[in-house]
Amino acid sequence: MTSSPFDYARIAELPSYAGKSVRVRGWVTHVRSSGKVAFVVIRDGSGILQVVLVKNSLPPESWERFAILTQETCVEIDGEVKLDKRAPGGVELGASSLAVLGSSPVDYPIQPKEHGVDFLLDHRHLWLRSQRQRAVARVRHEIEQAIRDFFYERDFTLVDTPILTAAIGERSGLFATDYFDEGTAYLAQTGQLYGEAAAAALGRIYCFGPTFRAEKSKTRRHLTEFWMCEPEVAFNDSNDNMKLQEDFISYIVARCLDRKQEELKELERDTSKLEAVKTPFPRVNYSDAVKMVQAKGSDTKWGDDLGAEDESLLVERADRPVFIYNYPKEAKAFYMKENPDDPRTVLCDDLLAPEGYGEIIGGSQREDDYDKLLRRITEENLPLDAYGWYLDLRKYGTFVHSGFGLGLERTVAWITGIPHIRETIAFPRLMNRLRP
Ligand code: 4AD
Ligand code: MG
Repeated sequence: MTSSPFDYARIAELPSYAGKSVRVRGWVTHVRSSGKVAFVVIRDGSGILQVVLVKNSLPPESWERFAILTQETCVEIDGEVKLDKRAPGGVELGASSLAVLGSSPVDYPIQPKEHGVDFLLDHRHLWLRSQRQRAVARVRHEIEQAIRDFFYERDFTLVDTPILTAAIGERSGLFATDYFDEGTAYLAQTGQLYGEAAAAALGRIYCFGPTFRAEKSKTRRHLTEFWMCEPEVAFNDSNDNMKLQEDFISYIVARCLDRKQEELKELERDTSKLEAVKTPFPRVNYSDAVKMVQAKGSDTKWGDDLGAEDESLLVERADRPVFIYNYPKEAKAFYMKENPDDPRTVLCDDLLAPEGYGEIIGGSQREDDYDKLLRRITEENLPLDAYGWYLDLRKYGTFVHSGFGLGLERTVAWITGIPHIRETIAFPRLMNRLRP
């Protein structure tokens, strides 16, 4: 038996047990038999393994159990590991016994045929087991780990911000709930405002967690619950902020190329497109961006936010993400710093992913002037009592600072090349989807 603390081996570890006997556990994906020899392919989350059962070298009960194996039956198999270059994972298992841990009726809903996406989403709890979905989960995990490593290596402190809040950050829809005698609580749209407070305590911080938008958007880029990573850096101006963003994105992409080739191949991602993602990223001023999209037929006017179609036009020929910077004040959130060179605009940027994936990052330098911030809060009719603490940050030792928010699921969609954001998170929350 193995020296594994759990007393069974993971399929991915099997090459190191060549010639030895091990126990494996997993779920059946395929079976086939030719009389006295049968084959079972199993999956355990670490890999795929072909098991060979030879009638004459198995106890009769084990051989008989082969007949009841269906897709998704959970099994425990003992056997000898044999190196075999043609087999998936480079090894095969010659079974010496087979036990059924959990049977699976023949009506397993997900079959190797085309299913509609609504059907698959209704069965998301089972759909997760399919090969493509496992590949997506692995890439997402790598991106999350790369995010944490990037900031850890740069001495940022992770600060976990609240999800139940009284203050709001962005303009888009709010989920509200009664909160005892305190009135209404809102599910956080962003951790940023808390991040700014923490930046004055720790200098460089980031928060990373779920955020919520009650947006009635049925697009391939919107979830009602999504994960956002938001760094906030004392003494960074808007230029430093964009520099940090391009370093961050190119780090994440390089990390996936380095460690997730197999998954990207499974997803049929054209990785040459990702290889091109190197710093520096192009920077286009908002006013120039408007002229560019107008020249391509868009009817967007100066002052409008840029729509999804404009974003696609702006990256049409780009081989890496593109910054659009310094948007008009009216198009953006109240906390962004007024541009001293053109007070109609604010010091901010959106980072647009190539290949039409749209905005993956929104960032800005923050308004650090007490009076200007107070004016913006009033102009936007935001409740002053909820923002007193936020104004305090401009009262006690105000400081130049900037930060940004990376949408995790949009980043996963872009890197994996998946057209719709709903497959980038285990259990997507969409306007019309709360189950499973
Ligand atoms: O541009 P947003 O709204 O910026 C903020 O929330 C700032 N407080 C961030 C900051 O400066 N700390 O959102 C940031 C990113 C977007 O670029 C997008 O990638 C993602 O979050 N995002 C969404 N992802 C999925 N579904 C939605 N409904 C999203 N809304 C925003
Ligand atoms: Mg934005």
